[in-house]
Amino acid sequence: MIQFVQRCIGPECRAVFEVDQWVYVCPRCGELLEIERVSGGAFEAGELRETWRQRRASMEERDRSGVWRFREFLPFDDDVEVVSLGEGNTQLYDAPRCAEYCGLERLRLKHQGNNPTGSFKDTGMTVAVTQAKKLGMKRVVCASTGNTAASLAAYAARAAMECMIMAPAGQVSAAKLAQALDYGAKVKEIEGNFDTCMRAIRELVHDGSAYLVNSINPFRIEGQKTVAFELAEQLEWRMPDHLVVPGGNLGNSSAFGKGVRELLAAGLIDRQPQITVVQAAGAAPFARLYEEHGSDLVNEEHPQTLASAIKIGAPVSWKKAWGAVSDTGGRVITVSEQEIADAKARIGRDGIGCEPASATTVAGIQKLVSENVIRSDESVVAVLTGHLLKDTDYVIKYHEGRLVAPDGTKIKK
Ligand code: F0G
Repeated sequence: MIQFVQRCIGPECRAVFEVDQWVYVCPRCGELLEIERVSGGAFEAGELRETWRQRRASMEERDRSGVWRFREFLPFDDDVEVVSLGEGNTQLYDAPRCAEYCGLERLRLKHQGNNPTGSFKDTGMTVAVTQAKKLGMKRVVCASTGNTAASLAAYAARAAMECMIMAPAGQVSAAKLAQALDYGAKVKEIEGNFDTCMRAIRELVHDGSAYLVNSINPFRIEGQKTVAFELAEQLEWRMPDHLVVPGGNLGNSSAFGKGVRELLAAGLIDRQPQITVVQAAGAAPFARLYEEHGSDLVNEEHPQTLASAIKIGAPVSWKKAWGAVSDTGGRVITVSEQEIADAKARIGRDGIGCEPASATTVAGIQKLVSENVIRSDESVVAVLTGHLLKDTDYVIKYHEGRLVAPDGTKIKK
């Protein structure tokens, strides 16, 4: 029988909790928890690949989900009632104009904005809300810069659960807010930034009355890790030289790190990509930690960027993300507001489009190629995390030449 546990990532603690235990962080030492398979699951790689391939032709709800299709690696019994909107199964696009812009022979974009609510959050949310339902929770909550909110609101509605969201007042795009409201969530706007909301929500769930589904919740990471599985499959089980992701609260980079680790351990891939995390220069505590070879992350008190999705100064998952970067020989870099805007417009010219936070990836790749860190003939995949229509205000202002960076600098078109 396959058995999973929740294990504390603290090297001195490593405490273990059942998967059905209602905990988010280690009750002993306060560190993050990670789902770990402790028995069973000695699969044969070829058989797994074939099972997953066959499921793509199936009409069963779980098989049609790009997350639950990989359920051998998810911590649930086979009879669990899943809460799904048919997430995952997103395109891996060739982006020739972006490749040229970056100085690469070829660049591919894994577009997570093509999920049901328009962002990568859905791949984690289907798993976290399934767990909430399994635990009998009636109420789910999160802090959000907008996409987690929209995603949670949708999955909570599917599961007929109450949903409450804390968002920084005046800093969430209209589209994301509209989604959360339409799916029936209660949205509480808080003075401050995402980090203020995160602190408030962690207080709120102390009494057990609601289930927290920010990426501090290890079940979110389990869902998001399957994107690495799907990508590997799309690349015929040959990982690229470089995998580039935007960094905010750092759940996504943590999830890619875990996904790659599990793929390697299962013999499904034979080499790992270097994972590069790109942050906006005004909200870059993780990049600073990397540059300074620090041992502890120093929060950014006043994060600033027009890429509102990643305007985060106290990323909760930084230790896991640190593992993803260091285990794969990757790096953490920053890009400016102008570089993000330029890259975003280039992505649009490939007929793809994304929200500003996602464009940090292409901006980062352009920089790394120009610095000879990435060679022009290497294989590179950038992960686009959100849909173009998530933030149209930014797009219109940019194209009308009215976009102004937080420090007052005019963004050039
Ligand atoms: N890209 C988009 C479009 C996002 O919405 C986020 C995070 C990120 C990148 C960064 O991912 O936090 O896992 O490093 N959005 C969160 C939210 C914070 O509340 O929607 P991360």
